Amino acid sequence: MKRDYLSVLDLSPEETKEVLKLGYELKREYRMGIRYKNLLQNRTIALIFEKPSLRTLATFQIGIHQLGGYPMYMDHKSVRMGVREPVKDVARNLDRWTEGIVARVYAHSTLEELARYTRTPVINALSDLEHPCQALADFLTIFEITNWSNDFTLAFVGDGNNVAHSLMLMSAQMGNRFVLIHPEGYAPSEDIVSRVLRVAEKTGARIEITTDIDAVRGADFVYTDVWASMGQESEAEERKKIFMPYQVNEKVMDMASTSAKFMHCLPAHRGEEVTEEVIESDASIVFEQAENRLHAQKGLIAYLYSK
Ligand code: CP
Ligand code: NVA
Repeated sequence: MKRDYLSVLDLSPEETKEVLKLGYELKREYRMGIRYKNLLQNRTIALIFEKPSLRTLATFQIGIHQLGGYPMYMDHKSVRMGVREPVKDVARNLDRWTEGIVARVYAHSTLEELARYTRTPVINALSDLEHPCQALADFLTIFEITNWSNDFTLAFVGDGNNVAHSLMLMSAQMGNRFVLIHPEGYAPSEDIVSRVLRVAEKTGARIEITTDIDAVRGADFVYTDVWASMGQESEAEERKKIFMPYQVNEKVMDMASTSAKFMHCLPAHRGEEVTEEVIESDASIVFEQAENRLHAQKGLIAYLYSK
C-alpha cells in the first residue's frame, strides 16, 4: 500500500515523530559529510508546481537527488493540469513513468485526485488547505531547541489558512500548546479545527483560537505568514488594513516569553506581517526553518519509500 502525504494527519502522531527523528538523523549525517544515500535507487519523482516556490522546489530537488532519486521538474505552464487535460489523466500518465509526485496546487482536491489515480506516493508541497512539509521542518526546528520536549507554546499570528492549519494539526499530534491569533473573518477551517480537537483529546495538546493579540503572552515561539497568500494578491490592499493590528513587531515579541523565537515560513513581507527589526533580530530562526526543509523532507521521503 502506497502512502501519500497530503495532510499532517496522513501520518499518525508516532509516525510524524519517526519522520522528524529520521530527518534529524539525516541532518546529522549530512553535517558529518554523508550527503548521499541510495535509498530511492534511481526512482523518478515528478515535481509539479502550479504556484511559485523557492524553498520547497529547491529542497525537494536537492533532497530527492541526495537520496539517490531523480527529481523530474515539470514546467506547469507546459503541463497545465486540469486545463490541457484532466488531472486524472495527468496522474495516470505520470504513474506509468514515475514513482511519486510532489505537487504544489491551488485546490487541495487536485492533490486528492492525483493521489487517487496513482500507485505511488503523492506529497503536498502546499495547497489552499495545508502545508504539511513546512510543519515538519518547523517542528524539527522547534524540537532541536526544546531538545524534543513538547512543553512549549507555539503562537501563530495571522491568517488561519494553510500554514496555520498544518501547524495546528501537528501541534495536536505532538501535544504542545498552540495558540492561533487571527483577525475577525480569517478563522481556520471548521473542518480542520474539529480534526485538531479530536487528535488533541488523545494527546493532551492544548489548542486555543482567538482574535486577541494579547494571547501571544508567554509564547515560546511566535510564528507569522504573509497576509495575502499566493492566489489572493487582489485582496492584498484590503487585507493590509485588517491585518495591521496583528503585525509581529517588537511590542508583540516583548509580550511573548523573554527567550521567545520568531518564526516565518518565508517569503516574508517586511513592514507587513513582520517588521525588519524582528525578522533580523537574534530571536529570528527563519533560516534554520528553511534549512530544515531539506532534512525534514528527506526524513519524509525515507519514511514513505521504506513502506
Ligand atoms: N515556505 C515555502 O514554502 O517557501 P516557498 O514558497 O519558496 O517554497
Ligand atoms: N500562506 C502562504 C504560504 C507560502 C509558503 C501561501 O499560501 O502563499
